[in-house]
Amino acid sequence: MADTTMDNIIALAKRRGFIYPGSEIYGGLANAWDYGPMGVELKNNVKQEWWRRFVQARADIVGIDAAILMNPKVWEASGHVGEFNDPLVEDKKTHERYRLDHLLEEQGVDVFGMSFDEMKAKLAGLNIKSPNGNELTEPKRFNMMLKTFLGPAEDAADKVYLRPETAQAIFVNFKTIIDTNRVRVPFGIAQIGKAFRNEITPGNFIFRTREFEQMEIEYFVRENEWEQYFEHWLEQMRQWVADLGAANKRVHEVEIPDGERAHYSKRTVDIEYDFPFGRKELYGLAYRGDFDLANHAKHSGQELAYTDPETGEKFVPHVIEPSFGVDRSVLLALLEAYHEDEVEGEKRTVMKFPFWLAPVKVAVFPLLRNNEQLVEEAREIFEDIAPHMTAQYDESGAIGRRYRRQDEIGTPLCVTIDHQTLEDNTVTMRHRDTLEQTRVPVGELQLRLQKVLAGESFKAIE
Ligand code: GAP
Repeated sequence: MADTTMDNIIALAKRRGFIYPGSEIYGGLANAWDYGPMGVELKNNVKQEWWRRFVQARADIVGIDAAILMNPKVWEASGHVGEFNDPLVEDKKTHERYRLDHLLEEQGVDVFGMSFDEMKAKLAGLNIKSPNGNELTEPKRFNMMLKTFLGPAEDAADKVYLRPETAQAIFVNFKTIIDTNRVRVPFGIAQIGKAFRNEITPGNFIFRTREFEQMEIEYFVRENEWEQYFEHWLEQMRQWVADLGAANKRVHEVEIPDGERAHYSKRTVDIEYDFPFGRKELYGLAYRGDFDLANHAKHSGQELAYTDPETGEKFVPHVIEPSFGVDRSVLLALLEAYHEDEVEGEKRTVMKFPFWLAPVKVAVFPLLRNNEQLVEEAREIFEDIAPHMTAQYDESGAIGRRYRRQDEIGTPLCVTIDHQTLEDNTVTMRHRDTLEQTRVPVGELQLRLQKVLAGESFKAIE
């Protein structure tokens, strides 16, 4: 991964069906990306494992899947209408727009903790020009929520927002969930879904886009217990990042100081990662206090409190929020997996995904495509395997080229049906990383594939 460039990743992502530029036949749409056949498998593996680990495997977390469009009052109560702004400046000639904090950072200014007014003063003091060398406008606060209209009339009464975070639907459903489910504080509500932000400077492939996915948990606790659960979630996030394959040295925890945190947060730790374009936020962990429940109670007129069924104590829970970006998880997985090495004198590109993340788990090949018996046997084996794990059947080209194709999508295991199979009913199994090969009886193939995918070595399963 050390030398991986974004160009390598973007080229491989397109060549092998992970991620394509969106609307390409119409010239594309800036910073919109579509997940292809391999990409959707990879992304689903991320989401499914997250859901399994944090919802299904825990007694204290329940899930929801709420509508993206919500009553606009939600975003007034949450503070997004008033506070969800970025500082925007515009090139007076080209009318291109830039984020002021990014321009200042490029000039070596440490913008950490700087208010809007301080940035404005810095801009004036340094006489910064646009990247095209032109004068810039006065900075404005730019609200990042995307808007649309419901129904045929495009007037203010019908204006709605595309949610900028999945979190608010969780707070808005808090009362219904405690009324209809047997949950006891401390407990969490989780959601995976799309979020939309009219980012001023999207870019760096799928790192910052205007449409993206989040995996979020709002974990409700008693106020005096928040620190303990903050630590718990930090540890969970560390483990998750390691399981995606991230090298420890590229992952950093950054305490966000007063003044720099989001409007709702009393403590935030950003998990940052060394991307090829710099150290940037991967995920965030925030202590939101009772900000959201208290504000929604005030604006909706509903009581959003919890009553302890044993003691009768009534209180507004405080919230710990671990927030994970799906697309940034995918980008990290692609970057960490990318390797180049040499096999039998030929350069090989291989995606060394942790096995659980690999889009395809096993590929099945007949040695020769023009040998009917080999093809028939290989197809049968493929059909036996495919209902149990994602598999591909491939009969085209020399066997070496078929291996290379699977290496490029990160398939852990390849199974080849050859002449010996017809004699003794064994097949060759080949390992993506060690390049070891072993012969396996067809009757034991499923079990042995599963064992290797679960982490056992070829030696251990023989
Ligand atoms: N509910 C809290 C929240 O939304 P955030 O730090 O604004 O906090 C959480 O976003 C995570 O969502 C980020 O850490 C990142 O992984 C992802 N994310 C945010 N904006 C994004 C964007 N424009 N493109 C891709 N991912 C984004």
